[in-house]
Amino acid sequence: MTFPDGFVWGVATSAYQIEGAVTAGGRGPSTWDTFSATAGKTRSGETGEVACDHYHRYPEDIALMRELGLDSYRFSFAWPRIQPDGRTLSREGLGFYDRLIDTLCDHGIAPMATLYHWDTPQVLEDEGGWLNRDIAARFADYAAVLAEAFADRVAMWVPLNEPAMITLLGYGMGQHAPGQTLLFDALPTAHHQLLAHGLAVRALRAGGANSIGTANNHTPVWAADDRPETLAAAAAYDALHNGLFADPILLGTVPEHLPGLEIPAEDLRIINEPLDFYGVNYYNPTRIGAPSPGNPLPFDLGEIPEHPATLMGSPIVPDGLRELLVQLRKRYGTALPPVYITENGASFAEDLVDGQVHDQPRIDFLTGHLDALSQAIEAGVDVRGYYVWSLLDNFEWAEGYGQPFGLVHVDFATQQRTRKDSFHWLREQLGKRG
Ligand code: NOJ
Repeated sequence: MTFPDGFVWGVATSAYQIEGAVTAGGRGPSTWDTFSATAGKTRSGETGEVACDHYHRYPEDIALMRELGLDSYRFSFAWPRIQPDGRTLSREGLGFYDRLIDTLCDHGIAPMATLYHWDTPQVLEDEGGWLNRDIAARFADYAAVLAEAFADRVAMWVPLNEPAMITLLGYGMGQHAPGQTLLFDALPTAHHQLLAHGLAVRALRAGGANSIGTANNHTPVWAADDRPETLAAAAAYDALHNGLFADPILLGTVPEHLPGLEIPAEDLRIINEPLDFYGVNYYNPTRIGAPSPGNPLPFDLGEIPEHPATLMGSPIVPDGLRELLVQLRKRYGTALPPVYITENGASFAEDLVDGQVHDQPRIDFLTGHLDALSQAIEAGVDVRGYYVWSLLDNFEWAEGYGQPFGLVHVDFATQQRTRKDSFHWLREQLGKRG
């Protein structure tokens, strides 16, 4: 497996999943504070109140990144730290990221910053959140503040992380904050996130940011059989999961099969602002069947039992990454900018014994996916970097602390960090580059 010169190696995290310190430095409440404090929404009522306490322990965590030999670190700003009420700037909030970014730069690690990884200021949610078009303008102001503060040091910018999950899980099905179950009536949240993306790209660029992209999640869609109704279901799911954000952003068009989604031409022009890179989060393929009677959705989610699964139950299909990248290139052609894998990783059942975590399944997972990635590159897809999700075991949203994704084990009672075997493995791989 070979990677081009200058290929970027990184790890990824997000604010609510690792920072903790939810009231420190004047941080305002977010939708995830509210949602996780609501009975029955997360595993055993777990919250991100303390998480990995990264807010206080970031120097130790950056030392781990340095030890790995990483080129880059993808993190997210907590919007409610920067603008606790979604509007007013908090200097203290900016100060935390100022120290974080300086420490990364001191260690030769290039910051890739996500502006929004799902923690909406609660005040904005109370005004309708992503259902209210006004949030796009608020987001553009927030982006302008961040560009002014950090464009000189942040190497790469991502406005929104996995916007499809906000629409599908946050507003459509309710498993994530803010927990609404609007089904297809959630589609305006896609329109407003797209507009927020486009306005943020413009604001960042105007503020001097030079490399701006995405972190869109994609999945190869596998039709369960070749009956016409199954193929139609697969096409509908593909439009929703893969096309909903990529088509407007890359092509300036709205995908077919989504009749409820109307985006005016003047918005599409903003959304279609050219990007410097296209960030892809990949975890697994999805099998789709025709909808069973009584299903309010136009498809059934099927099983993929022929492949092994992670602890979350996601099928492990490394070749899905190659399949996906080749498909993206085919679908978008020259409209697809250079690609970065902005997330890929897995949770496994594993134990800390005598100061060690033997996570061979994670090493196998990463090896398999890197092999598939190098095949995609060989097949002509221009991929420039790869970020492992995640550096640390952390708060896996509705799954709480039950899904360890880290290269580093975290004991949530003591905050003790322990390097897993996968950490040592990755350090060795990166060391071979000389
Ligand atoms: C994607 C999300 O961006 C991240 O927050 C999450 O922890 C991982 N997937 C793993 O499920």
